[in-house]
Amino acid sequence: AQSFTIAIDGPAAAGKGTISKAVARHFGFAHLDTGLLYRAVGARLLSGEDAVEAALALRAEEIDENRLRTAEVAEAASKVAVIKEVRAALVDFQRAFARRAGGAVLDGRDIGTVICPDAEAKLFVTASAECRAERRYLELAERGFDVDRGSVLADVRARDARDSERAVAPLRPAEDAVVIDTTEMSIEEAIAQAVRAVEARH
Ligand code: C5P
Repeated sequence: AQSFTIAIDGPAAAGKGTISKAVARHFGFAHLDTGLLYRAVGARLLSGEDAVEAALALRAEEIDENRLRTAEVAEAASKVAVIKEVRAALVDFQRAFARRAGGAVLDGRDIGTVICPDAEAKLFVTASAECRAERRYLELAERGFDVDRGSVLADVRARDARDSERAVAPLRPAEDAVVIDTTEMSIEEAIAQAVRAVEARH
């Protein structure tokens, strides 16, 4: 079986995760949320470990989504993500996943630009900061976290700035990426657009 890589990048809370899962399911491909790798390293940093050593020692079993989906770990993840040696340590795992037989969807910040520049399909999923903050706020409130809208928006903006302004692998659309702005879209509509964009290259 041949490999087929779909790269999906974009800022936090733009709908990337939901779209990536749905696209993977639609095509029967495996899915890797690469943010979880940085979150796992961030979690190790919070427990006092050296980030580079943590990235070099990272094992697939540590990628436990529930434990890593907290605002504190997200913050730590975006801090370790600016370290060149941390990013380098995670490259091989991501590229091997991308080349697996039967097809793969990888979502993150630099998949189309750095990890898989030759991906068969590239999407850049985005939305306004206000819209992304509102979605993140509702998601956190639903999960029972005691949060306020203002601080969620401030967090989204701070993480955007750190992800876009860093020297190594900054967040930006690849030149050949299809940009999907989900600000005014339902999730169903966004998924349908993403599937159509991939089908055009399939
Ligand atoms: O997507 P998620 O919010 O889980 O990512 C957490 C952090 O990990 C991001 O804010 C970003 O700094 C970093 N990240 C990255 N490159 C990726 C995926 C995530 O720098 N490919």
